[in-house]
Amino acid sequence: MVEAVLIDLFSLPASLQSNIQGELCKKLETVEKCSSIPAPFVYVMCCQQQGCERNDEQEFLLPALRDFQSLKKRLEVVHALTTAAALYTIKQSLDEKDLSTIKVILPALRKDLMKVYIDHLFTPVYKFEFEDLQVAADCKNLQIAEPQSEEQTLSTQAMALIQSEIQMYLESLPSLKGELTILRSPLIPDDIFLHGFTTRTGGISYIPTLSSCNLFSSSKRRDPQIVVKENLRRLAKAAGFNPETFHRVKTDHANAVCVLGKTEPESYDGIVTNQKGVTIAAPGADCIPVLFADPVRKACGAAHSGWKGTLLGVSMATVNAMVSEYGCNVKDILVVLGPSVGPCCYKLPQESAEEFHRIDPKCVRLFDSASPYIDIRRATRILLESGGILPENIQDDSVTDQKQNITFCTACHPDKFYSHFRDGTNFGTQIGFISIKD
Ligand SMILES: *[C@@H]1O[C@H](CO)[C@@H](O)[C@H](O)[C@H]1NC(C)=O
Ligand SMILES: [Zn+2]
Repeated sequence: MVEAVLIDLFSLPASLQSNIQGELCKKLETVEKCSSIPAPFVYVMCCQQQGCERNDEQEFLLPALRDFQSLKKRLEVVHALTTAAALYTIKQSLDEKDLSTIKVILPALRKDLMKVYIDHLFTPVYKFEFEDLQVAADCKNLQIAEPQSEEQTLSTQAMALIQSEIQMYLESLPSLKGELTILRSPLIPDDIFLHGFTTRTGGISYIPTLSSCNLFSSSKRRDPQIVVKENLRRLAKAAGFNPETFHRVKTDHANAVCVLGKTEPESYDGIVTNQKGVTIAAPGADCIPVLFADPVRKACGAAHSGWKGTLLGVSMATVNAMVSEYGCNVKDILVVLGPSVGPCCYKLPQESAEEFHRIDPKCVRLFDSASPYIDIRRATRILLESGGILPENIQDDSVTDQKQNITFCTACHPDKFYSHFRDGTNFGTQIGFISIKD
């Protein structure tokens, strides 16, 4: 069922616009007939040319819309200088209304081009269907970069141009919800390592649960990869690392570790490196982003440790990879546990609680209740200490620092952190990152 209609008149010269009135009328009639009540929202995408009066297109549209009172009320004409800007503005309006099924009515020649824009700016959460708008005989006048026949796809060069148009537009957007803020641990020496944990401010993601510095794109959520890439670019600029040499773990809630430069496992929750200038990272949105640094052998690591990964020992697996790959002494390795859901908020069912209770009874509170409170940080510390990491070389919430606390509860601080537990399925993600300085 179509929830919104997007009429793409972006490439249509003003001289042609009167030609399509009749055609547009027919389309709107079908839309109105086929849609359930209430009527879908209608967006008209127009090019904002210099010197062009804002009302021009709206006026030309009026005759076509006169007979469609229900549609008219829900009509929005979007003028922009680029297709990227127009489409992003429409996406914001769709997201605000939580709409995801969209019919695009457009000149046939624009279809391939629009599909590329849509692939970049939307995710599989949205469903698009396309319908041709017949633009009569004059269609040769259409200002389209590269006219294509049905079978052809756009050239690599045209695709790259579209991508860079979108990137430039996203770069121009203001940061939301304040400055980009990075938490740094005093435990990790900053003459050797560059590291940090992100908070949720200073990016461009605008959907409430993703706003604003979301650093993970999922096919199940509304932030496309290109927006996450722009957030990462802003983070990299603020932190001083190169976003082109950035490696994030491919999470699976297990304990595989990737040694950077060796064969990459299909999925892994730990990553280690001794290469300079390469930034490695682990996400978290309640799960703990854990960072590892050995200032003696100059090696580092990152791990993503949720309740499953914690029980599977992903942190010690990462330590073991540093020891076996780079000859690190376990006593030299520093470990910092980033923002994560705290024992104040986190509950699990009895059977999982039992496994934490076996690690240490202190990892579980209200053990006899149906869903006891779990301390995944304490479990992580206990497993690290029994693996030989020195207690004073671990920073978590049991360590209070006068300069900077790191291990905040993500669920308790909605202004600073994302939390899956708190925000549900459309949650955003923060990361912990580390690299060895040149
Ligand atoms: C860190 O936490 C402790 C205990 O809550 C507090 O006393 C201290 O002021 C905090 N440090 C900072 C910089 O907020
Ligand atoms: Zn909490």
